[in-house]
Amino acid sequence: MKDWYGNDARKYESIISISREICSKYGYRTIHTPIVEYTEIFQRAIGNETDVVSKEMYTFSDKGGDSLTLRPEGTAGVMRAIISESLTQNLPVRFMYYGEMFRYDRPQKGRFRQFHQLGCEYISDKSPYTDAIVIAMASEMLNALGIFDFKVVINSLGDDETREAYIKAIIKYFSRHEDELSDESKIRLKKNPLRILDSKNEKDKEICSMAPIIGDYFTKDSDTYFKKVCEAIEKYNISYEVNNFLVRGLDYYSHTAFEFKPTTGYEDSIGGGGRYDKLLEMLGGPNLSGVGFAFGIERIMLLLDDKSFKETARRVAVIPVSGKEDASAFELYRLLIASDIHCEFLHLGNIGKKMKMADKLNCELALIVGEDECSGDFVTIKYMNISDDSLKTKKINRSEVVKFVAHHMISNRS
Ligand code: HAM
Repeated sequence: MKDWYGNDARKYESIISISREICSKYGYRTIHTPIVEYTEIFQRAIGNETDVVSKEMYTFSDKGGDSLTLRPEGTAGVMRAIISESLTQNLPVRFMYYGEMFRYDRPQKGRFRQFHQLGCEYISDKSPYTDAIVIAMASEMLNALGIFDFKVVINSLGDDETREAYIKAIIKYFSRHEDELSDESKIRLKKNPLRILDSKNEKDKEICSMAPIIGDYFTKDSDTYFKKVCEAIEKYNISYEVNNFLVRGLDYYSHTAFEFKPTTGYEDSIGGGGRYDKLLEMLGGPNLSGVGFAFGIERIMLLLDDKSFKETARRVAVIPVSGKEDASAFELYRLLIASDIHCEFLHLGNIGKKMKMADKLNCELALIVGEDECSGDFVTIKYMNISDDSLKTKKINRSEVVKFVAHHMISNRS
């Protein structure tokens, strides 16, 4: 779990505001759901045999004895909100969300126990165009953030009939290798064999690489649907590849499943998503299909250049020469702030210390208020970044100072 400040905080805020603009173009509005939900919401939505539910959730009983869980992802809570607030009257329902998620994961690069996601969910009809549009919107967000080195890895988990046939085939296959499987995968073989394909155990992975592929079990409808999604994606300039082993680590997917993978540097997915046909109904809502995705914000931050997120707001400092001028300088500070000028009031220490502080805070102008300034009703303006002494200072009539500073900030904008 990390503290964020400086560049990291600015990166987070930029990611949210840039993505929000794009979401708005596509008709998404923001939803904020609670960080805790009843544990059962996640168990039912994500699936008891998934790593997320079986190993990674922060679950606790509250004082009333209810089992609550810090949200490990956003989709389940958004579906719960859509149902409890009866938000399916006007379709499509389109929401974007962002915020903290919690998974008791093994910490490593780009993997945290408190992390942040930015996600989008679209509930309405089931259309391959919608799947492609959602993927295109997510790609556009990455591009808008300056991220181009990624590909979309895509698969289909087909309809119920496809998955039934496929699960039968993998049960047969994994049963032949049961002795070699990890203990965990042996249990999954009985309870949820599809989840063996997510195993991080090396031997399991080796066995999985030879397992049957879902594409061979597609019903005609599933096959046609997936082909249409791919054709629609091809209309965009998006680099994508089909990987028949991509099953994603959450149980609620059907048909399209996808992940965004960086092509340079970092290996793990920066985001993932897919279609879910039964999720809303399974949680007690109407029979509507949805599609969505979530980015891992920390992983996006890893790909962003620090230099582009330096503090850029331009500031000035108001500096009383001694304590006697504090009140007069304070008046000037209040006027500048009221005129929306980014301003510091530096009244601690001697004049040398105050000037150093102004420099450290990247102030462009120091507005000096001393004894002469007070009696003569003017302010001495010192340009902090000019080395030529003859141009370094200027005396401005006190009544003109706010106008002068405001004009300086506009006319010298870099
Ligand atoms: P997910 O693949 O579990 O999908 O997570 C989405 C993204 O969250 C991952 O691709 C990754 O970037 C980030 N992430 C996951 N765990 C961690 C972690 N421990 N530390 C840092 N980043 C992490 C979902 O959560 C689905 N709800 C996505 C979705 C939305 N599907 C449909 N709608």
